[in-house]
Amino acid sequence: MTRLERLYEGKAKIVYATDDPDVYIQDFKDSATAFDGAKKGTILEKGRMNNAISSRLFTLLEEAGVRTHFLGLDSPTAMRIRRLDMLKVEFVVRNVVAGSLSKRIGYPEGTALKKPPLVEYYYKDDALHDPLLCLGHLEELGVVTPEELAEATRMARKIDEELQKFFAARGLILVDFKLEFGRDPQGNIVLGDEISPDTCRLWDAETQEKLDKDRFRRDLGGVEEAYAEVLRRILAEEE
Ligand code: TMP
Repeated sequence: MTRLERLYEGKAKIVYATDDPDVYIQDFKDSATAFDGAKKGTILEKGRMNNAISSRLFTLLEEAGVRTHFLGLDSPTAMRIRRLDMLKVEFVVRNVVAGSLSKRIGYPEGTALKKPPLVEYYYKDDALHDPLLCLGHLEELGVVTPEELAEATRMARKIDEELQKFFAARGLILVDFKLEFGRDPQGNIVLGDEISPDTCRLWDAETQEKLDKDRFRRDLGGVEEAYAEVLRRILAEEE
């Protein structure tokens, strides 16, 4: 597959056009940011590790009947993906209280939710710093139809169920994660973006050790080691 022009460069990935108008290439970078870009750094080998982790998880979800944009590996740091028209909404799915939810409702990190999962919607708008949206805000903005919202939310819950099962068998607790969906040319809602320690909170089930980007965000050290450990467990058979 031939890489053509660079269509988009984000904080952690570059998307390229290819000679097939319906296929893009998504290349994962080692660079990392946090707090809306205020903190910047590099996580060695992150591009390769997140490509491998995302590829495995997209494959798992496809096998479970979830439509994703994943088509196959392109290189150690890149995957071939379907062209999607991305929704301007980020979906955050939470099983355990952490991060901004802990600040928002005052529960300590690690508190179990009464009725997990909790699904939150954020507006993908850099100028507004991706604010949390209520359902009424989504309706007003019209960035997603009620049918699309219902379908993406149903898929987010199914993804949570499948990923929790997979991670639990590998000694990991899926605390929370962020998903992005898009429309394919036929108008179907399809999972896009990535699923990796950049976009999930994963805690060791025995020790509660953080094995995700919070190690970078909070200067906990052992960042590369945590990503490598997640990759190792994901590629392993059940423990
Ligand atoms: P939060 O607790 O900071 O709202 O994050 C919830 C989850 O979403 C966590 O797993 C990290 C992920 N996330 C992203 O992938 N990108 C983002 O820009 C933010 C704010 C969170």
